Amino acid sequence: GGKIMEKKQIEEMIDLAIRQLDYSYVPYSHFHVGAALLAKNGTYYTGCNIENAAYTPTNCAERTAFFKAVSEGVREFQDGVLTEYAAPCGVCRQVMMEFCDPETFQIILAVSKDKYDIFTLKELLPLGFGPANLA
Ligand code: THU
Repeated sequence: GGKIMEKKQIEEMIDLAIRQLDYSYVPYSHFHVGAALLAKNGTYYTGCNIENAAYTPTNCAERTAFFKAVSEGVREFQDGVLTEYAAPCGVCRQVMMEFCDPETFQIILAVSKDKYDIFTLKELLPLGFGPANLA
């Protein structure tokens, strides 16, 4: 879980996510998605979507950010941000469910620095199945 972010931090994360749009590899959909994720240790992890000629190996921006962090030993996150106003897909919500407290993890859906909405993971994934269900 995380604490509520300050406006300045939200703007910084939106900025980081928007900058990721340049790196999206999207020759098939031409739909750019960028993400930025804040770890509890204060490090930002960014991600873009990466498509593939075989289509299904495509990785969403959100999962790119999460997997970059987890692959570096970081599993505790504060907040998330996604750009393009595309709500995260179901698979990405499930990945968030693995590492984040659905009650407190905040997801910012932003179109610009001053136009965004904030949701908890629980709002986007009600009755989600996670590690607690297997405990
Ligand atoms: N995409 C994301 O990166 N995140 C989402 O949550 C929605 C979908 C990407 C996958 C694909 O590259 C493109 O957007 C169109 O689906």
